[in-house]
Amino acid sequence: MGDRLSLYQPGLSSPVSHRMFEPRQCREPLLEWYQRSRRELPWRGTSDPWHILLSEVMLQQTRVVAVVPYYLRFIERFPTPQALADSPEQELLALWSGLGYYARARNLRRAAQSIVQLGAFPESFEQIKELAGVGDYTAAAVASIAFGLPHAVLDGNVVRVLSRLTAECGDARSSSVRAKLKQIADEMLDLDRPGDFNQALMELGATICLPRQPQCLLCPLQDHCAGRAQGTQGELPVKPNKREPIKLALELLLVEKDGRVLMRQRGEHEPQLAGFWELPESRLIPGARRMARLGEFRHSITRNDYSVEVWQAELMRAPKGFRWITLEQLLELPLATTARKALSLAGRPVADGVG
Ligand code: ADE
Repeated sequence: MGDRLSLYQPGLSSPVSHRMFEPRQCREPLLEWYQRSRRELPWRGTSDPWHILLSEVMLQQTRVVAVVPYYLRFIERFPTPQALADSPEQELLALWSGLGYYARARNLRRAAQSIVQLGAFPESFEQIKELAGVGDYTAAAVASIAFGLPHAVLDGNVVRVLSRLTAECGDARSSSVRAKLKQIADEMLDLDRPGDFNQALMELGATICLPRQPQCLLCPLQDHCAGRAQGTQGELPVKPNKREPIKLALELLLVEKDGRVLMRQRGEHEPQLAGFWELPESRLIPGARRMARLGEFRHSITRNDYSVEVWQAELMRAPKGFRWITLEQLLELPLATTARKALSLAGRPVADGVG
């Protein structure tokens, strides 16, 4: 590390410290580290493009530990695109319940239908990108991991790692900085092992190059990192004007009669969670009598940060739009995450979920 660090002079900005970062020199230490330290995840033992697509779509907005049980249930139930294309939507949503961002599930079904129509999984980046819900990131991940094609990925983890390696101090959300980082990712990419290389960069971001407390002493690229040399790694990537979360309060009612729970299915055209089942909000049934406060939990979705109170309540008859659901049905239906959290807080049986 010694001679590289001598490049660093306090006060000098990126052009000089940048010299320590040579994209191609990162390949070997990164891949060697990945080989040694990677987490054994269920999708890492396959090159089945359908399974890799499933894992990457699930991983888009959800953490690895949360994805694992969903992925395993999914590939068991939908081992092929045909299996998903043939299944009822309610079953898909029930299996996805708790992962959030349900448009992903619906797009997957449309993608499965296209693959069935094509007769085989598409094998080029451009064709993969034509599948519903697949953008640059997912197409590059599937093309590189399943087919060994030379496409670099740029997700949030990779943006953070590359911003630090290059001490990039421009706005990481701007298209110009993203284009610059993409070019660097392309240059770094190991053309013999693009899938492993992409996963290694993402893995580094997920386990070592952490947002708040980067573990630089454990990092295989510590000697290549301009941000670390400058001591600015903790402030990178630069993301100005991050919007504050919106704090909201919500009150849900657990109304039970003869062992059944009062619930409502969201309409097909409601903008969020269409088709999912939810508990009544107290403001929607003013006639309900609140009996006991069962507890409270937090639920975040995009910028909204909900504080949800759950009350046991009484009501004589189901208002319009609501139905009495048996405990057995609860295990089968696609539940909104707030309903699942509230029901499990109240000790009622619900299928596994993470959200
Ligand atoms: N994040 C998204 N996809 C990933 C993968 N294949 N490996 C590690 N992290 C990821």
